[in-house]
Amino acid sequence: MDLLILEKTLIGLFVAIIGAIVISKLRGKRFKLPPGPIPVPIFGNWLQVGDDLNHRNLTDLARKFGEILLLRMGQRNLIVVSSPDLAKEVLHTQGVEFGSRTRNVVFDIFTGKGQDMVFTVYGEHWRKMRRIMTVPFFTNKVVQQYRFGWEDEISRVVEDVKKMPEAATNGIVLRTRLQLMMYNNMYRIMFDRRFESVDDELFQRLKKLNGERSRLAQSFDYNYGDFIPILRPLLRKYLKMCRDMQEKRLKLFKDYFLDERKKLTSTKGSNVGLKCAIDHIVDAQEKGEINEDNVLYIVENINVAAIETTLWSIEWGIAELVNHPEIQQKLRHELDTVLGPGVQITEPDTHKLPYLQAVIKETLRLRMAIPLLVPHMNLHDAKLGGFDIPAESKILVNAWFLANNPEHWKNPEEFRPERFLEEEANVEANGNDFRYLPFGVGRRSCPGIILALPILGITLGRLVQNFELLPPPGQDKLDTTEKGGQFSMFILKHSTIVVKPRVF
Ligand code: HEM
Repeated sequence: MDLLILEKTLIGLFVAIIGAIVISKLRGKRFKLPPGPIPVPIFGNWLQVGDDLNHRNLTDLARKFGEILLLRMGQRNLIVVSSPDLAKEVLHTQGVEFGSRTRNVVFDIFTGKGQDMVFTVYGEHWRKMRRIMTVPFFTNKVVQQYRFGWEDEISRVVEDVKKMPEAATNGIVLRTRLQLMMYNNMYRIMFDRRFESVDDELFQRLKKLNGERSRLAQSFDYNYGDFIPILRPLLRKYLKMCRDMQEKRLKLFKDYFLDERKKLTSTKGSNVGLKCAIDHIVDAQEKGEINEDNVLYIVENINVAAIETTLWSIEWGIAELVNHPEIQQKLRHELDTVLGPGVQITEPDTHKLPYLQAVIKETLRLRMAIPLLVPHMNLHDAKLGGFDIPAESKILVNAWFLANNPEHWKNPEEFRPERFLEEEANVEANGNDFRYLPFGVGRRSCPGIILALPILGITLGRLVQNFELLPPPGQDKLDTTEKGGQFSMFILKHSTIVVKPRVF
């Protein structure tokens, strides 16, 4: 068995060397490839740049090689784009050419080879899935229908926290309770369901499986099998783990949510109340537009794309407000004066609170949850910035650097919401300025922005209205060390925060 693997590895190395020679010939002759570090056979630049290609490491490389660069990660081409003009080219002008997504063996498992929407190539299937998901998830009507649910969820957080005696003294990990809130915000939309407490058994199972999916997908541990295809047999155990976990996860979505909802609608008929998102999706299935696997992958996509991203942003916002008490106080003052002390913020109020909007924008700028966007891909050979881009290259837009480049922003390392009321007053989160793309822009941009922004506003607003948020005793700042995965950025240590109720 081991000999077989050795034999395959040797054949692989041989093929890879030939591949590397061919590439270097291409580099020299037909193709004008973007600049980058000189690759070595087989490994390309992998050993030089390492696994952790986070936004900061890629920023360093951009400073060295320029606004477009090529990294050879084993057999894979990785293009990194770091200027607003080139971002515009990738996301807008050549949005069709660069509108696909890369998948690797792990993502093939988690998406049923692209039966979902987020990781499928740009084409008929993606268009259909995005159209089917729009009415149930991504319209202002959905916001108006569900905002009462989100307001209810955060008011329950406030009540629960007020009942925790340690919250006001030693502090609590507020994230734990906010995670339940975010699951409820999304499960109310999807299935008209909520979980009563963090101890709910079904919630625990769901959270564990989603966490495991996130860990397995974002890990760098499988890179070698992705970069050097012949080493893939060595990934067998890892891939089995992914497959087993995904099977359990899809079964949980089906047995406990999808089938339960179908049962309820078939027994209660129109007495079931307002249609929830999954009812619309099942309608599309019944019309023969999509199959049941697609339905389950829509549930899977919402679980991955909506919950933790918004939660990370809430968590970053809280951390910045704790570490900048003067900004927290200024925000509280705005809430008290515009709404009146103790008058609880609702979704329509968020539009009347410019400083709250600025705090959210600044959080998304400095602490971008998806700093490299979700990787894009060109299906065919393409041109970008005067260079040739070989077909099926992975294209990373370093959106974090675009929004933190000192050549384009005043003191970008500073958390200063005022910038969005002063020199950057015209910049919106919807991509109206190619220096600031926390949700991307164009065809593959985040459709969830329409839900994420009001949820962020209501959540941060209510917390600051009702509590003073402070570091735990003996600490004057929270640790804001970042942790990155394959394409996410979150806070390394979930902070303990003192949450002191205000007296009105
Ligand atoms: C603060 C919260 C969020 C942030 C920062 C965020 C950010 C992003 C980014 C950067 C992308 C990739 C854009 C690109 O590749 O060009 C994306 C894609 C996506 N997001 Fe979000 N997102 C958030 C919340 C949500 C929510 C709440 C939902 C759903 C309810 C959602 C659903 C999606 C989907 C479905 C895609 C894939 C779109 C496609 O490939 O066509 N996101 N998001």
